[in-house]
Amino acid sequence: MKVFVRTYGCQMNVHDSEKLLGVLTTMGYYPVSSEEEAQLVILNTCAVREKAEHKVYSELGRLKKLKKMGVVIGVCGCVAQKEGKNLLDKMPFVDFVVGPRNIYSLPQVLEEVKLGRRVVKTHLNGSCITSLKMPVRRQDPYRAYVTVMEGCDNFCAYCVVPFTRGREVSRPSIEIVEEVKRLADQGYLEVTLLGQNVNSYGKNLDEGIDFSGLLEKVHEVEGIRWIRFITSHPRDFSEKLIRTVTALPKICEYIHLPAQSGSTTVLERMGRGYTREEYLEKVAMIREYIPEVALTSDFIVGFPGEREKDFQLTLDLVERVRYEGVFAFCYSVRKGTRAAQWEDDVPTSEKGRRLTHLLQLQDRITEEVSRTYQGKVLDVLFYDWKDGMLEGRTRTNKIVSVPGERKHLGTVKKVRIGETRMYQLLGTLAEGGESL
Ligand code: SAH
Ligand code: SF4
Ligand code: F3S
Repeated sequence: MKVFVRTYGCQMNVHDSEKLLGVLTTMGYYPVSSEEEAQLVILNTCAVREKAEHKVYSELGRLKKLKKMGVVIGVCGCVAQKEGKNLLDKMPFVDFVVGPRNIYSLPQVLEEVKLGRRVVKTHLNGSCITSLKMPVRRQDPYRAYVTVMEGCDNFCAYCVVPFTRGREVSRPSIEIVEEVKRLADQGYLEVTLLGQNVNSYGKNLDEGIDFSGLLEKVHEVEGIRWIRFITSHPRDFSEKLIRTVTALPKICEYIHLPAQSGSTTVLERMGRGYTREEYLEKVAMIREYIPEVALTSDFIVGFPGEREKDFQLTLDLVERVRYEGVFAFCYSVRKGTRAAQWEDDVPTSEKGRRLTHLLQLQDRITEEVSRTYQGKVLDVLFYDWKDGMLEGRTRTNKIVSVPGERKHLGTVKKVRIGETRMYQLLGTLAEGGESL
């Protein structure tokens, strides 16, 4: 039995697809690389912006013709959660709709589909949270995602995620550490701890643990070389956490710290819980402790009520922080969110202009920051090899390409950086790299 899973959206979804494939593998399915070869096609969807959702509907339109060949079609992920039964009504050729917290009901769902039923599973009660018993089929043999929490309680005014992922639930630390140990035993070198707001990890646990405590525990696992985490909420990013990052050598000097806007007025309306000044203070504090840190961010332009002067403050913040890179988006109305009640008053063309302006500014900065890598000798973890070229990442998450042998795959080596491009550093292997 062949399955094809197409993934949209964030790293949580990428990892959820690994879980989907894990479950399906235990049922005898194996993954193929195109819809046409598969007997089961699953779209693991994203609902964060209207465009993301449109992509799903146009792909479903294409899949319709496969239905005649008896293919089973399923929709998972955030659109599945958000639309539920509506999707079955709108799309008569869809066989099942399964939300992110219901991945592990897939065997039952497919049983029912076999009996000719159409199934919707979108409970959000958290009973189906990631657990060690659930199989995962990972894409990368060296770098692994590990879920530390699911859902989000922040309800930022624009955001659909709390509705699609449910309330915030942290996984017990003992489970997380056990998963990381197993990964180390399998030869994994890097783990990325995943959550919508990792800084509030532990809030609902009886363990009396916070994210710093979790990092300390994960850090003890032998064999794991590098630890990353996403996403950090600026409001909850504490000095204690920064100290932990500094004290634990395996934690990479890379922090994704989404600002969303540089204007306090806009941030207030977004419900982010910090002002422009507080954000900049956090950045200054992080830089003080970790001078070599790489910071990245997300921004939304054209939020309801965003005036030119607010946008200028965003540009100014970007100039001041000098991120290694940013993701920026035009505001998109999401039904059910608080901001959806407000007039979407920035015209589409103006949103587009602001987005282009912001991205151009950041491109210049990305290139400048990239150039500062020239001549440095840095640790690189190599995870890919093709035609005599090794590809890896620095601790600051920059992609590096060097000529080298395949045997270096899955090792951390020193690289001397030569030419720098915006998103890629070129270099050569240097002396002193440690082979694993
Ligand atoms: N938990 C993360 C973000 C998850 S969504 C955080 O708090 O930062 C990823 C990004 O999509 C957000 O950071 C935001 O920049 C963007 N986004 C979310 N909702 C949006 C909307 N309605 N319109 C445009 N961009 C949005
Ligand atoms: Fe959305 Fe805000 Fe939660 Fe991030 S913190 S997922 S932006 S509600
Ligand atoms: Fe998209 Fe859901 Fe992630 S809406 S960004 S896939 S949490």
